[in-house]
Amino acid sequence: MDGNGRWASRRALPRLAGHRRGAEILEGIVEHAGELGIQYLSVYAFSTENWKRASEEVSGLMSLFEYYLKNKLERLKSNHGRLRFAGRRDRLSRSLLEAVENFENETREETGIQLILCVDYGGRQELVDAVKKIIASGAEIDSIDENTISQSLYLPDVPDPDLIIRTSGELRTSNFWLWESAYSELYFTDTLWPDFSGRSLDEAVAAYAARDRRKGGVRVEQY
Ligand code: FPP
Repeated sequence: MDGNGRWASRRALPRLAGHRRGAEILEGIVEHAGELGIQYLSVYAFSTENWKRASEEVSGLMSLFEYYLKNKLERLKSNHGRLRFAGRRDRLSRSLLEAVENFENETREETGIQLILCVDYGGRQELVDAVKKIIASGAEIDSIDENTISQSLYLPDVPDPDLIIRTSGELRTSNFWLWESAYSELYFTDTLWPDFSGRSLDEAVAAYAARDRRKGGVRVEQY
């Protein structure tokens, strides 16, 4: 969800105003994604590298996440959505962690869209954590395969993403779903996150639907 800072500075507003606007539009996007039949939607809200930002921005973002979890996710619940979390939990404040865990528990049985909140998430960190889990399990070296790694990631039951959207014109994936994105389709748009709309999501999904996903294979008609 990139471009909040630029959205704010173009309006001579503080960066946090961009993040607030980004949080507001997220609700509608989640709802629209549910209407499109999307089953999993992950949002990269704070990376392992984002701690390097000014302390007011970091604490403002953490307060925004907590506020959002406590006040704004009723719509997710009323649509039978489920909240998941991906990231390191040990650096979050106790109150934010409680808000995350309460929401995860309250929506555990829901069968609608799964909203995956990636906070203090980094793909490399996720792989480091997976390696630690595998070693701690005492697995035999020769028994370790791709499935062992997939099953040791933060959310082993969640399928790999089909489509990754990056807003604001940046052409990188910046440590997002590093392992899981091996065959994801990438979609880049110049739209800044606070300007992203249901129509923007429709356009991304239409672009995805027009792609030819061979995953290393060859289409039958080409033989
Ligand atoms: C990157 O844009 C954005 C972030 C680091 C924060 C994303 C957080 C939100 C959209 C808040 C909503 C999330 C939840 C779950 C309530 P940037 O600030 O780096 O933008 P810039 O590149 O224009 O400076």
